[in-house]
Amino acid sequence: MSTLIVIGAQWGDEGKGKIVHLLGKKADIIVRYQGGNNAGHTVVFDGKHFVLHQIPSGILQPGKTCVIANGVVMDPWALREEARFLESRKIRVTGRLFISAWAHLILPYHRHLDALRESGSGKIGTTKRGIGPAYSDKVGRVGIRLADYMDPEVFRDLVEKNMQAKAPLLKGLVSIDTLREETFKDYDALRAFFAPLVADTPTLLQAALRRKKNVLFEGAQGTMLDVDFGTYPFVTSSNPIAGAACVGSGVGPASIDEVLGVVKAYTTRVGDGPFPTELKDDFGNKLRERGQEYGATTGRPRRCGWFDAVVVRHAVRINGLTRLALTKLDVLEGVNPIRVAVAYRVDGRIVKEFPASRRGQTEAVPIYKDISGFTGPVKGLRDYKKLPPAAQRYVRFLEKEVGVPMTFISMGRSREETIAMDRKFRWVP
Ligand code: IMP
Repeated sequence: MSTLIVIGAQWGDEGKGKIVHLLGKKADIIVRYQGGNNAGHTVVFDGKHFVLHQIPSGILQPGKTCVIANGVVMDPWALREEARFLESRKIRVTGRLFISAWAHLILPYHRHLDALRESGSGKIGTTKRGIGPAYSDKVGRVGIRLADYMDPEVFRDLVEKNMQAKAPLLKGLVSIDTLREETFKDYDALRAFFAPLVADTPTLLQAALRRKKNVLFEGAQGTMLDVDFGTYPFVTSSNPIAGAACVGSGVGPASIDEVLGVVKAYTTRVGDGPFPTELKDDFGNKLRERGQEYGATTGRPRRCGWFDAVVVRHAVRINGLTRLALTKLDVLEGVNPIRVAVAYRVDGRIVKEFPASRRGQTEAVPIYKDISGFTGPVKGLRDYKKLPPAAQRYVRFLEKEVGVPMTFISMGRSREETIAMDRKFRWVP
């Protein structure tokens, strides 16, 4: 048996989809434990391009079981659409996907409330999928879980109370009648759709662990979007960090073997909020075009900047990372020098740890170390020794700065375009 958590060590969009798809070959079960359809995991499989939002990318591999666990907030309509899309591509979902009866739902009023907040001065650049309001309801103890959605009498009662409470907030935007109509749209058909998928997923996972199965936990978003340890309040409403895999799936911490962090060879972020190494110049635009840095969920252009070792060291500590996967190294081909932030200057002081305060995060000025660039071509290489020596030096420099070994280097979208640095790692396919 082996368990592995894969998380994003920056602001999301590090390329977790591809890494999870690669490691998923060795998994029996792939689990999503937080977030919702704000995520966009891009996977190239059989020459086809898939973007998955709620269903673990393991669904693309025949014979794997996929779990949407309790920590996820799930949009019933969006989930059905994703499942239908997969089935239209001949990927079977029923019998392979299990959704936690304990998972909370995203309902139409959550989407309206998200859009409302984003239209005001408190805007943080969300995906407007209703994620924040759904998690607020969960911790506010008025959320609705899938188990209760499946019981029409209970659901009608709970949702009616919620709609009455939310209608005044949405006054002038959407009437309670429209909310009701949206909430009950296709309700019977959706319940029929979910009936074979709903499961008591902690029991399912514990049984699998007892049977010595390999379980892969697929994080969504990234450490810097974590509601506790990210750039609050410009964060998502869940905990994308590794610790949340236990809370979000009902598996005890002693069952976790390893935690792998995915990092891009530079940094990107979508949405508003602090980003110390952001490049607001032509080179930033060039990186965006070269790396095709546009949001997989919303299509928004991603902000681009240099690799930030302060951020990644923070992620190493918070997640207890044991390994790293570096993605998109090929995008830096021909860039000279390559800059890496190794510390910040905050209020006249040099700091090596990511600051907690808003002022510290906003005013941090990166202190860079310049590394010689490399020329290619490197895309698609599968042997570390064939990487140009300067590219190898960049990789070794990053490892040393953040203190965790690089286990994979990815240079291309498909699963094959990856270098495995440690062939003994049991998850290497
Ligand atoms: P929310 O998760 O939609 O509430 O958005 C909160 C913040 O997280 C915004 O800055 C979003 O752009 C960001 N965000 C949410 N999901 C993702 C993701 O999958 N990748 C990158 N950023 C994300």
